Amino acid sequence: MLTDSYGRVATDLRVSLTDRCNLRCSYCMPPEGLDWLPAPEVLTGDELIRLIRIGVETLGIREVRFTGGEPLLRRDLIEIITATAALTPRPDISLTTNGIGLDRRAVALREAGLDRINVSLDTLRPEVFRKLTHRDRLADVLSGLAAAAAAGLTPVKVNAVLMRDLNEDEAPALLRYCLEHGYELRFIEQMPLDAQHGWKRTEMVTAGEVFQTLSAAFDLSEDAERVRGAAPAETFLVDGGPARVGVIASVTRPFCGACDRVRLTADGQIRNCLFARSESDLRALLRSGASDEEIAARWRAAVAAKLPGHGINDPTFLQPDRPMSAIGG
Ligand code: GTP
Ligand code: 5AD
Ligand code: SF4
Repeated sequence: MLTDSYGRVATDLRVSLTDRCNLRCSYCMPPEGLDWLPAPEVLTGDELIRLIRIGVETLGIREVRFTGGEPLLRRDLIEIITATAALTPRPDISLTTNGIGLDRRAVALREAGLDRINVSLDTLRPEVFRKLTHRDRLADVLSGLAAAAAAGLTPVKVNAVLMRDLNEDEAPALLRYCLEHGYELRFIEQMPLDAQHGWKRTEMVTAGEVFQTLSAAFDLSEDAERVRGAAPAETFLVDGGPARVGVIASVTRPFCGACDRVRLTADGQIRNCLFARSESDLRALLRSGASDEEIAARWRAAVAAKLPGHGINDPTFLQPDRPMSAIGG
């Protein structure tokens, strides 16, 4: 088991498969992109699969989520998912993606063993999409979403980050679109994880604001069936249900006390929190010929050292050195 000194148990492994991305969302990276990790530093498929196997077989990991950068850019993604689905006990397998290229790959992903998918979609207006991501790919994302639903990668969840003077007025339109298509929409508070270090609390559209805006157009009621537990999203029934909408209030209502996550970066570092100030190097250990038990021991120690919370609201908060794209969302 991966237990920390506050009694939390990490059972959800979030694996970043690459730090590269084909979009440039402004809350994540600058228009010119970033210096990507050199290829030799990125874990190979075999290395990744070995670490995931140790996590599942020895350390009690029960859910594996693949993230990026953009995980669909990873050429051996199907092999990695197939190997993960063959583990015992078989973990729940999900993927968080920007949706580009998903229309062509949804069926193969499903057949490999992917259970469900979360897709980022911040706007339905092509010109806003271009401004926000610096690419003209809205239609690809929408067709990717439709393909994921058709392939049975359900529930299909949609992640939206709202930004002032850009897409903050789009909450009702996004919800209408997701209701029509049967996707579960969640609004995420923007977190200080952009490479440019441009995050400002005053510019963040809060979960409270989103709730207010949506309440003017929809009847939002308590979702008694779903307890938040370790899930970042708080959900509400829309117009009596069964459709739902969620808010992920990472900043204004942190959920660190119930956190069950641990992260593996594309270059083989364990991060016990999105906002951790240090990492544990499993890649060096792996490449030095260490045994599974030695790797598991370092991993346990990394999680044991997890702090009680992200500290975003503390006056002494310092943004992590690595941006979201290099940590995994
Ligand atoms: P499911 O609801 O189980 O599908 O997963 P999820 O919401 O954790 O997954 P997703 O990858 O879609 O993440 C949604 C948002 O939650 C992203 O902005 C993540 O960065 C954020 N998030 C995920 N895990 C954590 C966490 O441990 N701490 C914080 N603060 N945010 C997180
Ligand atoms: N704050 C909040 N969410 C973010 N994401 C990326 N960067 C940030 C940020 N700074 C979201 C993406 C994606 C998920 C992995 O995290 O939109 O849906
Ligand atoms: Fe790419 Fe995701 Fe960052 Fe957007 S948030 S630039 S899709 S890694």
